[in-house]
Amino acid sequence: MASVKSLTASVHARLADALSAALPEAASADPLLRRSDRADYQANGILALAKKAKANPRELATRVVEQVVTGDVIEDIEVSGPGFLNVTVSDRAITENLAARAADDSGRLGVPRRAEAGTTVIDYAQPNVAKEMHVGHLRSAVIGDAVRRMLDFTGERTVGRHHIGDWGTQFGMLIQYLIEHPHELDHKADPATDVEAAGEEAMSNLNRLYKASRAVFDSDEEFKTRARQRVVALQSGDEETLALWQRFVDESKIYFYSVFDKLDMPVADDEIVGESAYNPMMAETARMLEESGVAVRSEGALVVFFDDIRGKDDKPVPLIVQKADGGFGYAASDLSAIRDRVFGLKADTLLYVVDARQALHFKMVFETARRAGWLSDAVKAVHLEFGTVLGKDGKPFKTREGETVRLEDLLDEASERAASVVREKAQDLTEEEIAERGAQVGVGAVKYADLSTSANRDYKFDLDQMVSLNGDTSVYLQYAYARIRSILRKAGETRPAAHPELELHAAERALGLHLDGFGDLVAEAAAEYAPHKLTAYLYQLASLFTAFYDKCPVLKADTPAQVENRLFLCDVTGRTLRQGMTLLGIRTPERL
Ligand code: ARG
Repeated sequence: MASVKSLTASVHARLADALSAALPEAASADPLLRRSDRADYQANGILALAKKAKANPRELATRVVEQVVTGDVIEDIEVSGPGFLNVTVSDRAITENLAARAADDSGRLGVPRRAEAGTTVIDYAQPNVAKEMHVGHLRSAVIGDAVRRMLDFTGERTVGRHHIGDWGTQFGMLIQYLIEHPHELDHKADPATDVEAAGEEAMSNLNRLYKASRAVFDSDEEFKTRARQRVVALQSGDEETLALWQRFVDESKIYFYSVFDKLDMPVADDEIVGESAYNPMMAETARMLEESGVAVRSEGALVVFFDDIRGKDDKPVPLIVQKADGGFGYAASDLSAIRDRVFGLKADTLLYVVDARQALHFKMVFETARRAGWLSDAVKAVHLEFGTVLGKDGKPFKTREGETVRLEDLLDEASERAASVVREKAQDLTEEEIAERGAQVGVGAVKYADLSTSANRDYKFDLDQMVSLNGDTSVYLQYAYARIRSILRKAGETRPAAHPELELHAAERALGLHLDGFGDLVAEAAAEYAPHKLTAYLYQLASLFTAFYDKCPVLKADTPAQVENRLFLCDVTGRTLRQGMTLLGIRTPERL
């Protein structure tokens, strides 16, 4: 694959060279290049450098300008204000750069992979066994999937870990109830042939069983005792008990898969590695922490203390590695998972896409792992926290009855609303096509809304706004894409072709420069785990395309060369939109 250097990178390199020629002590200084409205770029770095070198900034800027190589990429460079540099790149360079991108047949638009990629283990989409998934699980899945795709695109190796909640004392009650009511998990629908129906049936069975067993547990002391004994049997690895536990896990997976399927999201079975998978490591984790003195015994429990983590009355709040009764919990599982990910999977980054409300848990777990030497400068752990999904009323998102909203219902509703938006505009679509597009648009809209606010902020779940055709929505982007495809179809025999000799309209230049910056932007968004930067880029891309399309006739342009060149701009825009949306996990239908 031929990778293409972005114009920004080229201009940056030329300015840096000129800068070190003009001022040798500034050899590795950053010219601070930014896109600008006045010219194509403005460099603001001279001011501070001149100050440091006790030089006159305008004079230094003038010397830099004299040193800059112009005539190919840089068409014009001038000093402005107190010592800024305004840079204009040539039309030819814009078109040639885009042509090189278009010629990359790997589909990567000339975007290089990072030379020194690492391995990131990303912990996302982690629902709980025997429980309904809620909007928090949606956020983890959607954000995690997008971040992972962006990292993959930059060349990073990624390994997914779906740390499902599949262990805990509640299984004693559930298993005991199943023993006493053996047909509660039977089902009719076959997950191999009907993912959706099987998923629904599985969840409704689990729900019913959960409620019924909880009711007996709360009212019947003898059942309670049997349930507690069942916990002990489970923890000591009793085979019959484990086999029943496995049925809950399998049943739940049928449900999870049906939701992930609806979410249009790939989940690999070997990446579903739940809390229980680390059971065999827990005792050793505890022993290592105790022997190294990282953890201490306190009232029988094994705990880790932190100076800066205190609760009421200034009492230190410890992380509990092992309870006084010998049991291990959530923290021991996460600590063991760190060992597995660092030493087994050889990760150098551990990324956790988890609700911000678990921030304290991760703070304590990471600090413990650091003290134990499992995390270090070479291996970092990051909690990518996300905020709460709110209803229109600004309170945590619930149904009118105050219950958590079922994810499946929510996705279905989004798809239905989107289908009605599609139907309004559809000219030659069948009902079946409308439903299919509706799902792609509806689920895309939910994902986009989730991704377009920075993850750590709460956001309001507003379906009307999400499926709107106007504004910063995926629907707007999908329509822009579909329009481009329709223009290219209408062009018939006339193929897109770059003509670098042509002068460009201002709207073409703006679009072209933005397109050229795609790779740089994805690298930045991936490095910061910030999909909202990618959504902002794509929204601006669609807006710049709309402006171009308004001002520059494509099929009716003045000359055949101009028609081809504008079709070429349409084509590169379409491909960039599609690639960008793919990185977000959102489909781009050919027609809408
Ligand atoms: N299952 C947990 C929940 O539903 C999320 C797990 C997050 N990942 C982790 N490694 N602790 O809240």
